[in-house]
Amino acid sequence: MNHTLPHFQPVELKHASRLINHGPTVLVTSAHGGRRNIMAAAWSMPVEFTPPRIAIVIDKSTFTRELIAASGVFGVCLPGAAAADLTYAVGTASGREQDKFQRFGLQAFAGSTTGVPLLANGCVAWLECRLIPEKHTEDAYDTCFAEVVGAAADARVFANGHWDFHEGNAALHTLHHVGAGNFAVASSLLKAKPLP
Ligand SMILES: Cc1cc2nc3c(=O)[nH]c(=O)nc-3n(C[C@H](O)[C@H](O)[C@H](O)COP(=O)(O)O)c2cc1C
Repeated sequence: MNHTLPHFQPVELKHASRLINHGPTVLVTSAHGGRRNIMAAAWSMPVEFTPPRIAIVIDKSTFTRELIAASGVFGVCLPGAAAADLTYAVGTASGREQDKFQRFGLQAFAGSTTGVPLLANGCVAWLECRLIPEKHTEDAYDTCFAEVVGAAADARVFANGHWDFHEGNAALHTLHHVGAGNFAVASSLLKAKPLP
């Protein structure tokens, strides 16, 4: 158990892709040389189950990209619905001029596998990621590939390898950016049935 996040439980790496399969907006965390940072990213997706790999678009103008290029690692934290304002705030200000953790009163702890700062308040899951350097996709499309080397989630909303969104855990539902600071919330599950 992580004492900073008492409800969090490790997620088996073979299930890590399920954390972002439904396209949540995430917070990318990074650190290098005594600096740390956090930014919003709506464009991420799984690309492999085992080993778990993801792709995420991180613009080359961001401070985040600079820190990841230098450190080779980053965190992907999934904000819950209650953290919508925070998500927008860290997506509309750069950490180049200010420490956004300090500016927005965020608590961080070091991921046990990579040491990346992970958000200790307002998030419902996190992944620790190791950059897979792909110069062409990074330069041409700002798309960064990474292997997931650690993952955990709040057991009140993700358990036994599955999300469980229901009315009783609304503040923990994931956010999905619609545009211009508007978010849709993952608020219920629908089970597909075979067509007759
Ligand atoms: C909801 C939201 C989603 C965003 N998604 C992305 C994204 O997928 N990729 C990206 O490069 N920037 C995205 N941005 C913009 C970055 O978060 C923004 O440029 C940020 O200020 C970069 O911070 P940094 O310079 O501290 O790294 C998004 C912003 C918001 C508000």
